[in-house]
Amino acid sequence: MSVNLKGRDLISIKDLTPEEFFQFIETAISLKTGLNMSQRQEILKNKTLAEIFQKPSLRTRVSFESSMTHLGGHGIYLGPDDIKLGQRETTEDIAKVLSGMVDVIMARVFENKTVKELAEYATVPVINGLCDYEHPTQALGDFLTIYEKFRRFEDLKIAYIGDGNNVCNSTIFSAALMGTHITAITAPGFEPTEDVINDAKQIVKRYDTGSEINVTNDVNEGIIDADIVYTDVWASMGQEAEAEEKKKKFLAYQVDMEKFNKAKPTAIFMHCLPAHYGEECTHEVAHSPRSVIFDEAANRMHSIKAILALVTP
Ligand code: CP
Ligand code: NVA
Repeated sequence: MSVNLKGRDLISIKDLTPEEFFQFIETAISLKTGLNMSQRQEILKNKTLAEIFQKPSLRTRVSFESSMTHLGGHGIYLGPDDIKLGQRETTEDIAKVLSGMVDVIMARVFENKTVKELAEYATVPVINGLCDYEHPTQALGDFLTIYEKFRRFEDLKIAYIGDGNNVCNSTIFSAALMGTHITAITAPGFEPTEDVINDAKQIVKRYDTGSEINVTNDVNEGIIDADIVYTDVWASMGQEAEAEEKKKKFLAYQVDMEKFNKAKPTAIFMHCLPAHYGEECTHEVAHSPRSVIFDEAANRMHSIKAILALVTP
């Protein structure tokens, strides 16, 4: 039975039930099949999306804009210099003004509290397009990709190798919801917070999903038996000043062929992109036959299309 998600915000994966999470995946599959058959359903005809970006983007921006076009609506890009979120006027006023003009808002912001504040004051749905704490639309696209490759979420192990921040957190919450095991492998000091791990374990308990959630600094041990090897940049957008320092701390965590081969022989390689080849992974791994990074990138659009189709009133 489907759940009505119209009017809902998507700020955190933690706000979803397993049924709601899977509904996004199923809808994405259905819209993707329709797209391949050239059936572009104009289910958002004449609807408008405001896209607030405090940071750069390739995949997220193009996914949201292409999705709106395919569904018969329109996306308006509001870059860092357009509305100067938090500088030119308050987040509250921006949320209230946009609510009088558009049907749905997405926002890529520096701080989690900004996207939460937008959602608090907007009367239309707000979708988190990445913040320091989470990247929920990425996780939905990633789990769509995992589902396409394995046809299940249970009895799979993700080895996430990298910084324990936004992408890691959303991947952990998604794994917890869908019964997937996950080991977050980080350099010392960059582990996901205790709150994140506790929240994920609460999800596992609440829905009895059976996921094992682990954290380690030992990459060689953590990667063993992984079905999915996932990595992300060491220095996220906005952390450019820390990049050199992080390179030193994460040096031993680069996913190269030697490490990738410690995972299962059937393991796939995932990366949210953009990639910094020669840092978190080698070009060889990312472009190897078991890398799915470009399916994963394309699935951003299919999953975002499902999110827009389901939440836009
Ligand atoms: N993965 C991702 O969010 O890519 P962009 O930063 O290019 O949107
Ligand atoms: N952790 C990265 C993800 C990019 C999609 C960042 O925040 O820059």
